[in-house]
Amino acid sequence: MLEHFPVNAADFDGPVLVTGAGGCIGSWVLALLVRAGVPAVAFDLQVDRRRPGLLLEAPDLAAVRWFSGDIADTAAVARVIQESGARAIVHLAALQVPFCKADPVAGALVNVVGTVNVFEAARAAGIQRVTYASSIAAHGAQSASPWAATLYGAYKYCNEQTARVYWKESAIPSVGLRPGVVYGVGRDQGMTSKTTVALLATAAGRPYTIPFTGPVSWLHAGEVASAFLRAVATPRSDAAVFDINGIASTVEQSLELLRTLEPGAQVRCEGATLPFPMDLSDEPVRAYLGDYGSVPLDAGLQGTCAAFRSLLARGLVSAE
Ligand SMILES: NC(=O)c1ccc[n+]([C@@H]2O[C@H](COP(=O)([O-])OP(=O)(O)OC[C@H]3O[C@@H](n4cnc5c(N)ncnc54)[C@H](O)[C@@H]3O)[C@@H](O)[C@H]2O)c1
Repeated sequence: MLEHFPVNAADFDGPVLVTGAGGCIGSWVLALLVRAGVPAVAFDLQVDRRRPGLLLEAPDLAAVRWFSGDIADTAAVARVIQESGARAIVHLAALQVPFCKADPVAGALVNVVGTVNVFEAARAAGIQRVTYASSIAAHGAQSASPWAATLYGAYKYCNEQTARVYWKESAIPSVGLRPGVVYGVGRDQGMTSKTTVALLATAAGRPYTIPFTGPVSWLHAGEVASAFLRAVATPRSDAAVFDINGIASTVEQSLELLRTLEPGAQVRCEGATLPFPMDLSDEPVRAYLGDYGSVPLDAGLQGTCAAFRSLLARGLVSAE
């Protein structure tokens, strides 16, 4: 489904470093960069190409330069930027809601210190193109917010404040994006990954129960990856932060749509509603970034099920 998301190599003035490149969104960012012919540099805890390998063929994957290291390690982050000659940074490395809850100190090191390390390295290397993943969970971190307060959201909100200070004090511009519920090939961890698990189960002909109900956003992983790349497609001159929601729906309505597209689907939902906003406007981010592509929900659901069927047949994913 990469063809839905335009990336122009002429917009980039050198390699793009992707932190958390082995994750879901990182894999889509790598795939879009490779497809456009932009040099991609991957950074993650380990050299684990399994998720990018769901989107890229082996020779393309081999073209991506990989560095392994801990984003919380200041020297390691500075080194990868020096050695790779990166001119832009897409910072995605993070621990998600359940992991931050289980180990708050590790969560703060990765999510907060890791982001400071990225800004420090950008400052040292004079990089003017930085984008980073915040989250809709940041809404819950603000006082008097009706949304759930989580450590993950608090860390993400802290990063937005960090970015503002780096702009004011050090003239390092950035774009922070707050994705809603991301779905697509490669989405397999985090509390909101279950909508994608339902698509994988459908492709495998297995029953599945999504453990939440009510409002949900459907933000295709390729769409948000493309937005991150537009964010660094030109030098910026502020520290902007935007929601990026995708398509607002409910779990119930989207399962109804899935059953019309995939008549064999045996998917249901139960449980509480998600504690974060699911119908935020994408108008501000689209006005700021320009066209980063989109995919309608029916095409996204069908395309993802089709991709999973092909990956299941090749033994590259499992619905067990
Ligand atoms: N997926 C979503 O719905 C969603 C929604 C809102 C925000 N986000 C944010 O977008 C970003 C990417 O999300 P994703 O779904 O691709 O997540 P993911 O969990 O699939 O990938 C995160 C990657 O970060 C890496 N990582 C973790 N700790 C690290 C460390 N110490 N050093 C280096 N790398 C480390 C992991 O190995 C993993 O490959 C994250 O910052 C996440 O918080 C995601």
